[in-house]
Amino acid sequence: MIGDVFRGERLRLAALSAADIPVLARWWQDGAFLRLFDADPAHPLNEQQMAEKVEAWRKEPGTFMFAARPLDGDELIAFVELDGILWSQRMGWISIAIGDPARRGQGYGAEALRLLLRYAFDELNLYRVQLTVFSYNPGAIRLYEKLGFVREGVFREAVHRDGARHDMILYGLLRREWEATRGDRPSP
Ligand SMILES: CC(C)(COP(=O)(O)OP(=O)(O)OC[C@H]1O[C@@H](n2cnc3c(N)ncnc32)[C@H](O)[C@@H]1OP(=O)(O)O)[C@@H](O)C(=O)NCCC(=O)NCCS
Repeated sequence: MIGDVFRGERLRLAALSAADIPVLARWWQDGAFLRLFDADPAHPLNEQQMAEKVEAWRKEPGTFMFAARPLDGDELIAFVELDGILWSQRMGWISIAIGDPARRGQGYGAEALRLLLRYAFDELNLYRVQLTVFSYNPGAIRLYEKLGFVREGVFREAVHRDGARHDMILYGLLRREWEATRGDRPSP
């Protein structure tokens, strides 16, 4: 049976909208969040800059961005993205962000990422997805390992922050590993 590939138990994958820009701009004022999210120098963005950034992401070939929202509402709970897809190899990068600390630790990250993986494997028919995470981000590491990602390598001392260097860890997930652990199908 063909189901709704966007719909989960509590969350749904939706398009980013203009109303998300102020929310994302708020997330981008949080220097702790930015330092978990990527290796770029943390730098706050105003709403216009945020809108330009989202537009630039949208134009990148092989990029699929989603807002994860509650089934019955429009709140932006998580931003999830597949990017850098190499179609000839059916391989892509994934990322996830829950910018509001009050929304973390409630299982939303796991559900949003499962929805993104289902999209990657069942809709885009990718074979492999991968990501990097900093060694000082135990919450994200726990999430990825819980979803079956395999620790494949370490970019040793790749990131310098607060006077120390930190590892950046590469995780990958193959289609067969996802199939073995997924336990879900799109909702009818
Ligand atoms: C990483 C992130 C997506 C996780 O989402 P979340 O909704 O907080 O995670 P969940 O509630 O789904 O928890 C998933 C697992 O991680 C564990 N976990 C979550 N936060 C944790 C923390 N800070 N320390 C240790 N474990 C943590 C949970 O206990 C759960 O494991 P369990 O089922 O064994 O108990 C979210 O915290 C976030 O967006 N952080 C800021 C940006 C970021 O780090 N992005 C990832 C960059 S690589």
